[in-house]
Amino acid sequence: MVHLGRARVASSVDFAEAEELIGTVAEIIGNERNISLATIGEAFRELPVGNESAHSVAIAALFPYARTLLKVSRTKNPSWFKKGATFDGMSLSRCEFLASWLRLLQDISQWRSTLEDPDGVAISIERGDSRKSLGRRDAFDGILTSPPYLTRLDYVQATLPEFLILKELDAVPDMQRLRRSMLGSPLTSERPERSVERLPTSIRTLLSRIAGHTSKASASYYYRFFSTYFVDLQASMRNIAKVLKGGASGCIVVQSSSYKEIMIDLAEAVVVLGEEFGLQHQSTVEFGSRRSISLVNTRAHENARKPKSECAIFFRKA
Ligand SMILES: C[S@@+](CC[C@H](N)C(=O)[O-])C[C@H]1O[C@@H](n2cnc3c(N)ncnc32)[C@H](O)[C@@H]1O
Repeated sequence: MVHLGRARVASSVDFAEAEELIGTVAEIIGNERNISLATIGEAFRELPVGNESAHSVAIAALFPYARTLLKVSRTKNPSWFKKGATFDGMSLSRCEFLASWLRLLQDISQWRSTLEDPDGVAISIERGDSRKSLGRRDAFDGILTSPPYLTRLDYVQATLPEFLILKELDAVPDMQRLRRSMLGSPLTSERPERSVERLPTSIRTLLSRIAGHTSKASASYYYRFFSTYFVDLQASMRNIAKVLKGGASGCIVVQSSSYKEIMIDLAEAVVVLGEEFGLQHQSTVEFGSRRSISLVNTRAHENARKPKSECAIFFRKA
């Protein structure tokens, strides 16, 4: 995310420097006809990181390339790659690889920041966990975000190709730790009962219905998954409310889902959680979406296979 974020706000100077970085890598790896990603990574890691944006842009350009390389490792689930899939043993043509890298860099240069334009704006990227802190109180005039939905999509596993690139070119990411810090992670860890008790009544009623469902693991895994999600979403909403200035506007995009025949109105839950922290609901705009993970899972409950709609929820801080 950080590399993508930085790439999205990089200037034309950063893109020019990223091109130079690729040129230096080409010199370091020599003239072997075939190379591996490990060789490229080793050469790239030799380069000092003088300009973080240029460094990130060069890395982010390779993300789509990594996806193409791992295509063969896809499973039936479109967001999943075979366990243990790696680039090991892949031999790449030096010439083709370098040409693709430069072309991909060119492709993403359309994201170039407007900072140098006369009416451009300055953007900075910060990292954080929305459940813990989003920054100073009353710092922002607005927020636009979309939390993970209740689809049990494993964002970390779904971005395996990008993580493998990071492992070669940057630093080995702690994937288990990242998976655990995802709101809505399918790797659930229990939240204390008193946190669940602090949830609004409508959400607690929903959780009781899930826990009481007759299907397997409803009272154990699924109750834990859903209750952890709502406790973490409540913490995130509290932090969003904290960092917004009075009168600031916000928009949160979510998609509703279902557990067996129980409908889970996530948009309504966001509205209720927001109002607790002074985020006054203004309007909700619904739009059709066919991008739901459960639409492609043929074993999913028939409710889950219905086309999903996404909602943009607009609010204002009191
Ligand atoms: C539905 S996606 C939204 C993607 C975003 N709209 C975009 O275009 O990149 C949910 C995002 O929430 C992020 N996320 C998950 N847990 C988080 C947490 N605890 N704090 C901050 N972001 C988190 C995930 O990394 C994922 O990118």
